[in-house]
Amino acid sequence: MQKRQETRQALRRLALAALALGLPLTLNAPAFAEAKPFKIGFILPMTGQSASTGRQEEAAIKLYMAQNGSTVAGRKIEVIVKDDGGVADQTRRIAQELVVNDKVDVLAGFGLTPLALATAPIATQSKTPMVVTAAATSIITEQSPYIVRTSFTLPQVSIGIAEWAAKNKIRKVVTLVTDYGPGIDAEKFFKSQFQLNGGQIVAEIRSPLRSPDFAPFLQKVRDAQPDALFVFLPSGQGAAFMKQFAERGLDKAGIKLIATGDVLDDDQLNDMGDVALGVVNSHHYSAAHPSALNKKFVTDFQAANKFRPNFMAVAAYDGMRVIYKALEATKGQGGGEALLGAMKGQIFESPRGQVLIDAQTRDIVQDVYIRKVERKDGQLWNVEFDVQKSVKDPGKAK
Ligand code: PHB
Repeated sequence: MQKRQETRQALRRLALAALALGLPLTLNAPAFAEAKPFKIGFILPMTGQSASTGRQEEAAIKLYMAQNGSTVAGRKIEVIVKDDGGVADQTRRIAQELVVNDKVDVLAGFGLTPLALATAPIATQSKTPMVVTAAATSIITEQSPYIVRTSFTLPQVSIGIAEWAAKNKIRKVVTLVTDYGPGIDAEKFFKSQFQLNGGQIVAEIRSPLRSPDFAPFLQKVRDAQPDALFVFLPSGQGAAFMKQFAERGLDKAGIKLIATGDVLDDDQLNDMGDVALGVVNSHHYSAAHPSALNKKFVTDFQAANKFRPNFMAVAAYDGMRVIYKALEATKGQGGGEALLGAMKGQIFESPRGQVLIDAQTRDIVQDVYIRKVERKDGQLWNVEFDVQKSVKDPGKAK
């Protein structure tokens, strides 16, 4: 109290002195008064079908702050985590509240594509940077000039597995994807790359986003007798799918499973059992990525949480990095345009490898790995054995 009064008096004396000298009265506020906290509003599914995404991301945000502190360029960082339950109307309402009532400096999170799409107009109208740390349909970044993405896109990770399949004696494929943005992207880009390499798609199946039962779809796959089944499902659905794949005996029927890494998600992989062994898939992050930075990330994360980080955790961790560095670059001033400008073009080593925020598209450019599920020291891991370097979202060019 006493101190604040003294500061106020000192400020008044300075103002009077400035007036007497004819100096402008625009004092650099943070230098004289306590700076306002810098607010990051994370909207995540903490409940419902995609709750694992919220749990992973919240743990990663906490880890980033534990490692990097909670003050940046004199501003105290305040993270507000809100649960939208994976429902777009909730996301929109929460985003509005965060912008209007809490006056957040940055919006972040978005566990599913429809949730990011629902928020894009709010980011544009309020000129608030919106850091997408989960949703992965290609078009998302085009919905607002204020969107920056630190996760990935489905076109980015679907091409690698299509090339691998064509080179490894897989000729006939059935595709099975979840029937919404990222699934349709995965289906389209897997198909065109596989066909370009001489492969044939014998059936295309789409499963519903909410509470899918895979049994009837797997029966169709059996009947079509392809060499392989290509699958994309959003994070959280992989374990249920793998169980039904084994129960229906598809592995025994000689139908190979290939997928994007979402299906062999590190959050659930270890509990999938033998059916996952040998499954080749492509993705941008594996908890088994053999870099020193990742080993430290995984060790610290597991020590704090008793579960393994997945690709959602890494995207949130990197999202925090992008926000911290942007605030630092503006010397603590922030401001929508300035922050956005400082997010564009950031290049850094992530636990997944080297990444770049493309200044033109505001989307992430990263390595995509081809991995195989192996058991090591009694645990299942996605072991990387091939890499496509610096992959830009192929969805943007089409
Ligand atoms: C999405 O809804 O964009 C999404 C969610 C989870 C994933 C991939 C994409 O694993």
